[in-house]
Parts: sequence; C-alpha cells; structure tokens
Amino acid sequence: MDSVSKRIEELVEEINKHNYNYYVLSQPSISDFEFDKMLEELNKLENEYPQYKRADSPTQRVGSDISNIFDTVSHDYPMLSLGNTYSEDDLLDFHNRLLKELEQEPEYVCELKFDGASISVKYENGIFTRAVTRGDGSKGDDVTKNIKTIRSIPLSAKSNKITDRFEIRGEIIMPHKTFEELNILREESGDTPFANPRNATSGSIKMIDSREVAKRRLDCYFYYMMGDNIPTDTHYKSLKMLQDAGFKVSEHSKLCKNINDVFEYIHYWDTERKNLPYDIDGIVIKVNSFKLQEILGYTAKTPKWAIAYKFKAEQVKTKLLSIDYQVGRTGAITPVANLEPVQLAGTIVKRASLHNADQIALHDIRVGDIVFVEKGGEIIPKIVGVALHEENSTPTKFIEHCPECGSELIRPEGEAKHFCPNSLNCPPQIKGKIEHFISRKAMDIDSLGEETVAQFYDNGLIKTPADLYTLTKEQILPLERMAEKSAVNIINSIENSKNVGFDKVLFALGIRYVGETVAKKLAYAFGNIENL
Ligand code: IVH
Repeated sequence: MDSVSKRIEELVEEINKHNYNYYVLSQPSISDFEFDKMLEELNKLENEYPQYKRADSPTQRVGSDISNIFDTVSHDYPMLSLGNTYSEDDLLDFHNRLLKELEQEPEYVCELKFDGASISVKYENGIFTRAVTRGDGSKGDDVTKNIKTIRSIPLSAKSNKITDRFEIRGEIIMPHKTFEELNILREESGDTPFANPRNATSGSIKMIDSREVAKRRLDCYFYYMMGDNIPTDTHYKSLKMLQDAGFKVSEHSKLCKNINDVFEYIHYWDTERKNLPYDIDGIVIKVNSFKLQEILGYTAKTPKWAIAYKFKAEQVKTKLLSIDYQVGRTGAITPVANLEPVQLAGTIVKRASLHNADQIALHDIRVGDIVFVEKGGEIIPKIVGVALHEENSTPTKFIEHCPECGSELIRPEGEAKHFCPNSLNCPPQIKGKIEHFISRKAMDIDSLGEETVAQFYDNGLIKTPADLYTLTKEQILPLERMAEKSAVNIINSIENSKNVGFDKVLFALGIRYVGETVAKKLAYAFGNIENL
C-alpha cells in the first residue's frame, strides 16, 4: 500500500511540474503522449485507492460529471472595481490629486487590463480551496470545480513563499485562437457564436458541466493578492512573490518611477496590444507602495490608489472591395462590406457591417474607397467612415430588389432598414425562420442545424416549421450524408420538442417584437394559444 501512496505522490508532483512548465511558462519539457500516460496512471490509482487521492490532484482538471449548481458565497474581501479614465488629461488629474494628498511623487505599477472575467481564488495551507466569481462585489458564485480545470492555475501553491491563507484576484481569459476555434465549432453545431472572448469566458466559467469547461482551454492571469501578514511592502514585489509561488503573472507589468513612464507605457500598449494573443481593454495604474495605498484608502466601490485607463475602440483602414446584401429571417436587408483583409484587434477582418442605406449615404461610402473599420463589443466589425474617396467613383445606390427572390424591397415609415416583403417564399427568410424555430431558446431541436435545415428545404421536404412535424425517417434517410442513427435522432428530437413550454413555442414562431421576454409575459398572462 505504501508503494501505491508513494507512486501517487510522485505522479502528482511530476504532473503538476509539467503542467506548470506547459501552461505557466509555456515551455513544455515532455510530449503530450507521455503526459497523458502519467495522468492515466494516476487516475487509475486514485480510482482503486481513493483514500490516497490528494486535494490538489491534477486529475480534477478534466472536470467531473456532477452537475454544478452554484452556491452564492460571500467574499472574504470585497471585490472592488476600478475608476475609469479615457483621456490622458484625466489621468494627469488623478496623478495630481495623489501628489497633493501624498505630498510626494508615488511610484506606479502599470499593468495590462485583461478583458475577461474576474475571479477570486483562495489558498489555505497552499491548497486551492475555493474560486468565486465577482458577482455584486460582496457575494459571488462558487465556481471552484470549473476553475480547477484551468491548467495554468496551480492546485497547490508554494505557500511558504507567501502566507498560510491568502486570496488572489485575477482575470480568466480566452485567447483569440481558442475563441475562434470555439466559434467555428459552435456554428457547425448550430449554436450562436459568442460575440467576443469576454462573453465566451464568462459563459464558460458558469457552465453546469465542468468537463465542458475543461474543453474551453481558458487561461488566467493574476494581478492582486490579499491576506493577513503578506510579507512584502509593495505591489510590484507581491506580483513577483505570486510568480515565485507558481502563479501566472503577466510579464508585461512594469514598475514606473514617475508619471512620464506611465504615459510611455500607455502609448506603447495602445499600438502594441494588436499583437497580443488575447484582448485587453486598457491599462491599470496602481500605486506601488502598500503604505501609500493605505494613506489613500478606498471609496465604497474602488481603491483610490488605482485607476484604469481605457483604450478607444480600435480602428484600421482598408479598401472596400464590394458590397453584398444579406436577407435575414425577418426579411430585413443588411448591407455587408467585403474588405481587403486586414488585421484588427487580434483577428483578420474580411467583412464588416454597413448597417443600412442611411449610414451608407451619410458617410458617402463607395466601392473602392479606403474605409475605417472598427471593432466594438459586437461580433461583426463595422464601417464607421471613409478615409479616402476613390477618384471618379460613383455613390452607392442601395438595391431595390431582393438579391435572393427578386421581390421589390419596401422601406416601412420610420424604419432604417429595407425589407423583402416576400416572407412566405423568399428562401433565406424561410430557412432563417426555421433555424430560429429549432434554436436552443426556442424549440431546442438540437439534432438539426443550419446545414440540415438547408438540406431539407433544398430537397423540398420542409417549407414551414410545421412541416418538421410530419417528416418521417424514410423521407430523410436517402439524403446525402444522412446516417440511420442521425435520422432517428432527428425524428426523435423533433418529437421531443412537443414538450417545451408555451413561452418557447411563442418565441419560436418568430413574430416581430415577440422576443424571449415578451413571449414569457404573454405565456404567463394567457396560458395557452386558444386564450391568446
Ligand atoms: S486590479 C483593487 N488589475 O478590471 C484591485 N483589475 O474595473 C482591483 N482587471 O474587476 C482590480 N485587469 O476584473 C486589476 N491588471 C488588472 C486588471 C484588472 C483586468 C479587471 C478586473 C476588475 C476590473 C476593474
């Protein structure tokens, strides 16, 4: 038995070391295969001898099949936010306020402001014991199981370097590459893609199944530590201490001797952030000395010794090659720009929204022009203006007929958008309505997706959502790439959808102005379709 517990110890140490090398230092020292072999062996031993399973066992990283129901728990120390500034003048005001109050020039630490979801992680005697979301700042969700799947977060810290009990704050992020891969998968399976890595991150850490979280390949940077008797006197040294204890701390934090160094840092990252593999939305400036931090103190919500400098939305210039017109499920026409591919906020942009006819006219946007593209919170970048008009180009004339079915477009009074009125026969409208009907928040027919809907429609099997309910296995089996098993799944899940609530059915119908909330209200007030 002793040899078993010894082997478990060895494996835990070894695996944790390789985890650290790979995820924190980005310097793998063994192959994935060797790593998986060790993990497999450990898993097997732990299953056979659960009495030897350690609290910081790396086997927890893969998640478990126990559903997460998040307890709301109080933070030991409130999770504060930061005051924001958007201009250098405001930042200078901040600095001058501190000068006056402290009667000396403070040293600052400048850090990247990671754009993800903040987290508070507690370590007791070196062992990761609890992870809580920000919530309202005083209480948050206990997401311990999910956060343990993030491999760059140590399950045991070298606590002798810090203190017995401490809590650290950091930001969970999803790198661009992971985000893009996730969205491709989501689109393939008919799920709505996430608008940005931040939304993808907060969605991921609240997932019910921690095994799914493990697949999301999240990362975490730590930037703040709390506890009694933290054995240091400056923020910068505390970051170093975290790093020595095995935590991932940004290599880009900088100790600035004066405010000019702070401005230099900001200027540098305002352009250099484009080359980072994850999103940041600004710079955080913190007073370095704990003693000075204490003098400055706190407001109800923010420390007075720190401030966030937020970047303006990123813009780039590129050439407008052509304009497509997309028809949505409501018949609304959206002009979409095809662009000369350009790097913007970490991704390559080839298409951008032009909104509507008014926006095109307002900026006099013409094919061939050099235009400004901006990425805000939305998934689709937008064109916000013209940098340079092409010589002899002609103003863009908005289309008058539907690009899909040829119907004459209408523009209702007071609406910014043009519409194709042929709602019963225009193919993208029909497909769009059916896609909406089957979506997760509607009838939740998850065995169908965009591609199968198109396939059924193109083969003349469905023209309205109602047609789904008369489909038979025999009808769909002959279709290309349709296996017996998927056919059965599809028919079953259509049948199962008859059990969803009335509110979902109402929402699924895709009536204009009847979104999820209105549908719920109507369902609550009327109870059934007859009453309604
Ligand atoms: S310090 C008392 N440092 O920004 C210390 N926050 O609006 C408060 N954030 O909720 C936080 N990067 O989620 C700090 N390097 C950084 C940060 C950072 C991102 C987030 C954090 C916080 C929000 C403040």
